[in-house]
Amino acid sequence: MSGAGRRRVVVPVSGGGSNLQALIDAAGAPKCPFEIVAVISNRPGVRALQRAAAAGIPATVIDHTGFADRETFDAALSDAIAGFQPDYVALAGFMRVLTAGFTERWNGRLINIHPALLPSFTGLHTHRRALEAGVAVHGCTVHWVSAGVDEGAIIGQGAVPVLPGDTEDSLAARVLAMEHRLYPACLTALCTGTPALPLAMLGQAG
Ligand code: GAR
Repeated sequence: MSGAGRRRVVVPVSGGGSNLQALIDAAGAPKCPFEIVAVISNRPGVRALQRAAAAGIPATVIDHTGFADRETFDAALSDAIAGFQPDYVALAGFMRVLTAGFTERWNGRLINIHPALLPSFTGLHTHRRALEAGVAVHGCTVHWVSAGVDEGAIIGQGAVPVLPGDTEDSLAARVLAMEHRLYPACLTALCTGTPALPLAMLGQAG
């Protein structure tokens, strides 16, 4: 797809940015229907910012510690995002709870990737809790963001096995590899108006 026809995506991040990298890599394909037009981090110095710079994508830091409360931070974040006129805002390891004002402003354009098969294991420490619960299947979810944390409608999911001897780290790595497949696939599906097919690597290690 030519540059002019691509959907514009802004990616808020907080850390390593491996999901951002997966989106950047996907956008490099000639037929990809989206482009990453900006990266915004709430934390300075994170690797995601280096990834954006390496790809020639404008990167902005809006440090949440410099704001008095969530409302003023979210307003600044919202205004920065709006400046890039995005079709979609794809949270990628963005670790701030968003206010209702923010989620309402971006309703219908705001998506997130969560490291669990929602509605199971909302919130943090999803891999530890999946191991503790003894589930055989775990994974990740791309979903619309609504006011309730990790509660928006599901766009797509990727499933992975929980294998004997798994640790929190080994399970996290398997899920993260699936996240890197799922997020570009779901964003592509949204941009093309097609359903996001479920992904799975069950019955095998990986
Ligand atoms: C990913 O596993 C993502 O699903 C998770 O943080 C990690 C970020 O990794 N997001 C959340 O937990 C959101 N509540 P990355 O920075 O390498 O993409």
